[in-house]
Amino acid sequence: MSPSDFTIPPGSLVVVTGANGFIASHVVDQLLQAGFRVRGTVRSTKRGGWTVDYFNGKYGDGKFELIEVPEMGDPGAFDEAVKGAAGYIQMATPVMESYDPNVAVPNVVNGVLNGLKAAASEPSIKRFVMTSSSTAAVSPQPNKEFSVTPETWNDEVVKQAWIPPYKGVQKRLDVYTATKTESEKAAWKWVKENKPNFVLNAVLPNANMGTVLDVKGQGAPSTVGWIKALWNGFEGSEDLKENPPQYFVNVQDTARVHVAALLYPDVNNERLFAWAYPYNWNDILAILRKLYPNQKFIEDIPDLGRDLSKVTNDRAEELVKRFGRPGWTSLEDSIRDATVGWA
Ligand SMILES: NC(=O)c1ccc[n+]([C@@H]2O[C@H](COP(=O)([O-])OP(=O)(O)OC[C@H]3O[C@@H](n4cnc5c(N)ncnc54)[C@H](OP(=O)(O)O)[C@@H]3O)[C@@H](O)[C@H]2O)c1
Repeated sequence: MSPSDFTIPPGSLVVVTGANGFIASHVVDQLLQAGFRVRGTVRSTKRGGWTVDYFNGKYGDGKFELIEVPEMGDPGAFDEAVKGAAGYIQMATPVMESYDPNVAVPNVVNGVLNGLKAAASEPSIKRFVMTSSSTAAVSPQPNKEFSVTPETWNDEVVKQAWIPPYKGVQKRLDVYTATKTESEKAAWKWVKENKPNFVLNAVLPNANMGTVLDVKGQGAPSTVGWIKALWNGFEGSEDLKENPPQYFVNVQDTARVHVAALLYPDVNNERLFAWAYPYNWNDILAILRKLYPNQKFIEDIPDLGRDLSKVTNDRAEELVKRFGRPGWTSLEDSIRDATVGWA
């Protein structure tokens, strides 16, 4: 597709919230690469300041700017950020930070609604892309066959999240799940009721793996930390060993789906599943042993099971192909890209 057919022309300003994050930094990178200007928001310019040096170094001064939005849930949080923008990508969220749904759910719902309200107040904004999560549809259920479609919502786990006591690894995961499910539902409801000037699309990624853009600035962020934990035999992060088999996706493919949801006029009001293929820890161990034959890894983990779910991910893969890719990036390539940061 020619850039003249995009919903917003190259050179336009796009807001990306949580711009220093693992996935968001790739969205910023791809937008700058495609000739857009980006205004990133970060909670703290101290933590997120690396983005300015990194993107100015790569694309020249004046294409990327950074502003601090310390708390997405505060009233009017994004009102300044949207000024003069043509597109908005709502990526920021506290990932697994809270055990208490009474705190976490309203915080994230308000954060997303703040973004929608701010974007609606800026008539130049034509597209709003929300990063939801696979968990807004389902939680992994190894060895069970079921289908995941745009009509699937994780209401069961949302109910679980509200049952006390508010402690333990599973509760923290369920509370995160509740924030993603409730905030995505709230976004669709708000758009239906308020009919803003923009189109909403949601991207629901599963476990992201792949390149860390700036290892010095980001370390092993988010789900790359899972691979690093496995590399280290889960020492000091035993809870991650319990992560069930699920789907992975390459982080740059997830970013491509976001960019497509922002730019392609035929992508309208869609829930896009950025899920590549199912994996379990032993699949990653086999890849690590192949890539790093001199490195010692833990033995295979018994009885892991498999994710047998079937998801309607063909639409998102078709969008990835529009970027000249053959389809979803493989697990091996994603693990190789992720591990170069420390191997
Ligand atoms: N990684 C995955 O596999 C995966 C899978 C499904 C969905 N997602 C979704 O993808 C998005 C990005 O995730 P990620 O893995 O890239 O996570 P990440 O690297 O932790 O990035 C999260 C970003 O959100 C910011 N943030 C956290 N709490 C905030 C708050 N209360 N107010 C404002 N900003 C806040 C973080 O700021 P700090 O840097 O200051 O903490 C960071 O910039 C999230 O919406 C997540 O739910 C991720």
